[in-house]
Amino acid sequence: MRFSQLGRIGESSDRIESDTMIGAMREPWIIAHRGASGCAPENTLAAYERAVALGAQFIETDLHLTRDARFVAIHDKALDRTTNGTGPVRDHTLTELRELDAGMWFDRQFMGQKIPTLEEILAFAREQDVVFYLEIKYDAAWGMHHALVAALAGAGNAARTIVISFDPSTLDAVRRLDASIMTGLLVEGANRDYVKAALEVGARQLCPRADLITRELVDQAHRSDLHVVTWTVNDTAKMGSVVSAGVDGVMTDLPDRLRAALEDKKTTV
Ligand code: G3P
Ligand code: CA
Repeated sequence: MRFSQLGRIGESSDRIESDTMIGAMREPWIIAHRGASGCAPENTLAAYERAVALGAQFIETDLHLTRDARFVAIHDKALDRTTNGTGPVRDHTLTELRELDAGMWFDRQFMGQKIPTLEEILAFAREQDVVFYLEIKYDAAWGMHHALVAALAGAGNAARTIVISFDPSTLDAVRRLDASIMTGLLVEGANRDYVKAALEVGARQLCPRADLITRELVDQAHRSDLHVVTWTVNDTAKMGSVVSAGVDGVMTDLPDRLRAALEDKKTTV
């Protein structure tokens, strides 16, 4: 299964080291950013389906909480850009949000796409054998960690998800509730010890913005048993450079372009 490519928390350090060494030899994971958001409306089932069709083994999606404490997939804290609704996501109940169209803004052919629920995402992950990177957005409400951990408690859900956030305290809170959930620290900006920051909150992955990727940073992270996943890379040349630096995964809006770049790299080495 594809999700077995990931080492799990609780495995021995020998096994993790072996995963890391294997990681250095195998192709990076193709992670569809907000689904295949270059060719379908971001954070919708249509974008997830397109991602799978284009060869992604992993899908990144953004989560916000509704007024009635349900997780839904949408990037912005407001509805206006990607739906026909207006105002903050957190001011609406799930029932209200499910009335909205989340596809028309992108193209008429996607009319009728709805804002996905976390439960739909987890069902999709099981049915399609993909792993989801679930990004918890900053402005998710206080106490959301309990709702998230409860939602992931079902059979096999935690093994098909990696919780990521820019906020170390969010990852720390998730780990305290359930240490078996794999987490990744998103980082951007300069002048920080990113590896230390990830290790401090028990993350198993470091997720730097693409311009931060260097061979040195990747090697440093690998020495600390962290996988390195970078975002968001849509340019073919940049794909080549982050792959050459040794990253374990690449988030892209264009998974087919990344697949082609990886194939190309294989034939030229
Ligand atoms: O998850 C990495 C990346 O998605 C973070 O930025 O704004 O696209 O959610 P953003
Ligand atoms: Ca994101």
